[in-house]
Amino acid sequence: MRIVIAIGGSILLKEYDNKRFENYAKIIKELNNDHEIFIVVGGGRPARDYIGVVRDMGESESICDEIGIQVTRINARLLQLALKDVSYPGIPTNFQEALEYSACDKIVIMGGTEPAHSTDAVASILAEYVGAELVINATSVDGLYDKDPNKFDDAKLINEVSTDELMEIISTNETKAGTYEFIDRTAIQIIKRSGIKTVVINGNAPENVKKAITEPIGTLIKS
Ligand code: UTP
Repeated sequence: MRIVIAIGGSILLKEYDNKRFENYAKIIKELNNDHEIFIVVGGGRPARDYIGVVRDMGESESICDEIGIQVTRINARLLQLALKDVSYPGIPTNFQEALEYSACDKIVIMGGTEPAHSTDAVASILAEYVGAELVINATSVDGLYDKDPNKFDDAKLINEVSTDELMEIISTNETKAGTYEFIDRTAIQIIKRSGIKTVVINGNAPENVKKAITEPIGTLIKS
């Protein structure tokens, strides 16, 4: 199966630790034996820190986004180094390049593309572009809850959600650089039009990425 895995920067860069990248690399190599894998890496804390500095300089949101994109590409490069020669040694800056690089039978890893969305959208567009069957979005939460699990003990994990329901839920979220929550609007629109199965899982344990292929886990977003 052709699979796009989006790994949040909040997972890979929870702290600066080579093991986080190497543990992910191990799982990705295993998956690569049976599947064709594309990876999109997020920005996490370093992206938000840099964006904060640039915003304080009075720069526009698009410039802030551009700085975030640069950080996602550095993070992608680190994962590429951890994967060694099973990964393609270049970071695609657009979807056509990603498809071209994949012709070498190597794992393609990319970060962001252009301003005004997050790497969630990059993963969805990439999946549509390369004809992937599944997007696994590894985040720092277990999935979507009916209410904030940090505030309410009785918050329940939602196993399945439609794109229309999800759009309503996130309609109040911010769309500023570094603040695209849970999953961004562009990603939801792409999931809706492409119908590509998308699962949001807790990526703090890399094994969950493997589980997401074979068993129900996290929140499934249905078109
Ligand atoms: P992320 O997708 O990582 O957002 O991109 P995030 O909210 O930090 O998510 P986690 O923590 O990795 O899960 C970081 C920032 O880079 C810019 C946005 O400003 C985003 O918030 N970006 C990223 C873009 O503008 N375009 C892209 O294609 C990707």
